[in-house]
Amino acid sequence: MEQQPTVRKKRIFSAIQPTGIMTLGNYLGAVRNWVEMQDEFDCIYSIANMHAITVRQDPKELRENTLRLMALLLACGIDPERSVLFVQSQVKTHAELSWVLNCCTQFGELSRMTQFKDKSARHPENINAGLFDYPVLMAADILLYQADLVPVGDDQRQHVELTRNIAQRFNTLYGQTFVLPEGYYPKLAARVMSLQDPTKKMSKSDDNPKAFISILDKPETILKKFRSAVTDSEAQICYREGKEGINNLMSIYSAITGRTLQQITDEFAGKGYGEFKTAVGEAVAEALRPVQERYEAYRQDKAYLEGCCRKGAEQALRLSQRTLEKVYRKVGFLSL
Ligand code: TRP
Repeated sequence: MEQQPTVRKKRIFSAIQPTGIMTLGNYLGAVRNWVEMQDEFDCIYSIANMHAITVRQDPKELRENTLRLMALLLACGIDPERSVLFVQSQVKTHAELSWVLNCCTQFGELSRMTQFKDKSARHPENINAGLFDYPVLMAADILLYQADLVPVGDDQRQHVELTRNIAQRFNTLYGQTFVLPEGYYPKLAARVMSLQDPTKKMSKSDDNPKAFISILDKPETILKKFRSAVTDSEAQICYREGKEGINNLMSIYSAITGRTLQQITDEFAGKGYGEFKTAVGEAVAEALRPVQERYEAYRQDKAYLEGCCRKGAEQALRLSQRTLEKVYRKVGFLSL
């Protein structure tokens, strides 16, 4: 029989924290691309609940949010038949590899991480060692699966660079062990800004709920938030520096409808901001409707969600165990 040529698909690893609710920014900037990438890549996605506890979490809420995020990722189109989808804490190799990697990471390197500097400035009352060590756990997440590509936002770029450095150092010290991963920044990833201050990234931790759209906001709420989005006083719909509010609305509309910025400018030539904002709000509400419906169905089915967690954790353990065993052998740990 003729042999099929076996071209190994590139492997993708990414993760998202189960804190609060997913925003339109997370969806358009990340999760929608995760769904697309399933066609082309071998994808492994994780819910990073171990990263989440670097900031104080209410245990009950964390548990709820983890299961909710599982339901939401499924609703967005992550397909557990094609991809591995799992909860980080349910796969023990992550904690195990991070210890070894800790011993290959310099204090100075971690001190230079801008996210650490920002977060410790914002939470001076809880600068815990986990917050400092966060990028090493992230390196373990990625390296355990020998991932080639790591789709992340700009804020994680430095952490992916650090992961490469750690991997390279380990390989030099102990011989080839880890694939060196690369950050992957899909062209279509929209950078969604706050609706109230379009110079800031849309964030679920914004004090003003009008600043962000939650994936689960009701259509009326979505419309209302878009109608009160901050713009400018020019009454001209075009993408230009200084028009951050309009630029943001245009890129959201473009990400949702697939239209180019020029097409949007033409479509709304001579029309007012009110009409444009309503159109954007309606398009977003319409795009989220099927996600919300699927989410509600998954939420009702706790047994199914828990089954997904179990299956994903088993697959992830099997894959990551191979890397961990190799690492343990190389550093000189006795095998049992
Ligand atoms: N730190 C990432 C974030 O907050 C989430 C994350 C954890 C991650 N582990 C990862 C992303 C590994 C990519 C790869 O966005």
